[in-house]
Amino acid sequence: MDQNKIKKVLITRQQVASRVKELGAQITRDYAGEQVTMVCTLRGAVVFFADLIREIDLDLEIDFIAVSSYGGGTSTSGEVKMIKDLSSPIAGKNIIIVEDIIDSGVTLNYLKKLLEARQPKSVRICSLLDKPSRRKTELKGDYVGFEIENEYVVGCGLDYDQHMRQLADVCVLAPEVYGG
Ligand code: IMP
Ligand code: MG
Repeated sequence: MDQNKIKKVLITRQQVASRVKELGAQITRDYAGEQVTMVCTLRGAVVFFADLIREIDLDLEIDFIAVSSYGGGTSTSGEVKMIKDLSSPIAGKNIIIVEDIIDSGVTLNYLKKLLEARQPKSVRICSLLDKPSRRKTELKGDYVGFEIENEYVVGCGLDYDQHMRQLADVCVLAPEVYGG
């Protein structure tokens, strides 16, 4: 890994792990006695998702969806495209959409509306990270790991141009990398 692409570690893997435990416990309490379908948004949420579902003590199903809103850079194009739909119907089910980060909110706004149209029992959003200062929609996360400043982050599933997802910590990308 090219260390000079990283400006600093923002959230350590230990901090992520302990927050994920709290989120898992909260979801377990909130949905006590209910079944839940956890929807992982590919690809960024996959690391968080794998950790989170193992901290939830409920009758769970998992499914995967992929949409894309970004080109190659660090800001949204404003367009959302379906890449891979869910494998199973969700009518009557409790859905928790799991995301890596809420930035403008455009992606999740689209996803939430898309899934709500399929008549699930409920739809909530769980995101590891949230950049509230960047929001362009009304969207709010129901479960949020960490609120962060407006800095581009990588690691723990988050990428820059598809790279660096495997970094264990959440790190701030060096602005030189993207010319910021
Ligand atoms: P939104 O539609 O603007 O909320 O964009 C959400 C998506 O943008 C996330 O799922 C990420 O894939 C990507 N994204 C936004 N901010 C960052 C960041 O700081 N690092 C890596 N990916 C990001
Ligand atoms: Mg992404």
